[in-house]
Amino acid sequence: MAPDRASVATIPVHPRLRIIETSSELAACPITADELIERAVIVKASARPAATTAESMESVLPWLSVWYDHEYWRTGAWTCRVKSEGEFTGEMVPLLKFHTDMSRRPEPPAYTVIRSIAGDPQGGGASLLVHIDDAIRRLEELGEDALLRLLRTPRTLNVADGSKPTLPLLSHGGHTRVRIFDYHIATKGLHFDMSDHELRELDRFIDACHTWSDLIMQADLQAGDLIAFSNHTFLHGRTACLGTGRVTDIVLGNCADNGRNAGTHPE
Ligand SMILES: [Fe+2]
Repeated sequence: MAPDRASVATIPVHPRLRIIETSSELAACPITADELIERAVIVKASARPAATTAESMESVLPWLSVWYDHEYWRTGAWTCRVKSEGEFTGEMVPLLKFHTDMSRRPEPPAYTVIRSIAGDPQGGGASLLVHIDDAIRRLEELGEDALLRLLRTPRTLNVADGSKPTLPLLSHGGHTRVRIFDYHIATKGLHFDMSDHELRELDRFIDACHTWSDLIMQADLQAGDLIAFSNHTFLHGRTACLGTGRVTDIVLGNCADNGRNAGTHPE
């Protein structure tokens, strides 16, 4: 039986998510860089059909200065193929735990866009997001003061070359800013100098995020759909692929309006 209007109206929409279904919705309210700091935006393929991810970026996020500074991103988009048996480039885990992208860089790209090329036929491979403000509020409610202090403690960032800056995983400068990595799958060693105890606490934080179902957004992207969000304020992950896998294009970038080409986020 089809739901009536009243029941449709009561379907909760995640407060950190906007879904754009039509080109007129997109034209009436374009996606801004500041919006993505506070909420993620899904653009359905029906809103802006595009043959390629590059075309999609130009029409949906014209202000995005696409990031190329990694071998996977030489073309501006990393095509990530995830198969259920774990055979894929990059992350070698069935469920990809919450993290931020390029957290080993002194200045990680400010925005992440995930565009579905092909969904997992069995419905797995959904993107997961949690906003760091919501996670912090939950830690405060739980009395996890020591964990918050640990996340806010400046520590050495193990960059590959040059001087190593001292940065916290969690900072505040106008808004919260986070960089989180799963050291179990880090391919180039620890991103930060952290003790075994601190790493266990980091694991505990990431695992706790996965239990906060009321804070988690789950995006089941169909082919051509994309989701855009701030890589500085959202943690993201992915559910396991249950079928033959999913294929996505991952685009990173900054806000071109900023003179430093580093997004709108203060240090
Ligand atoms: Fe990622």
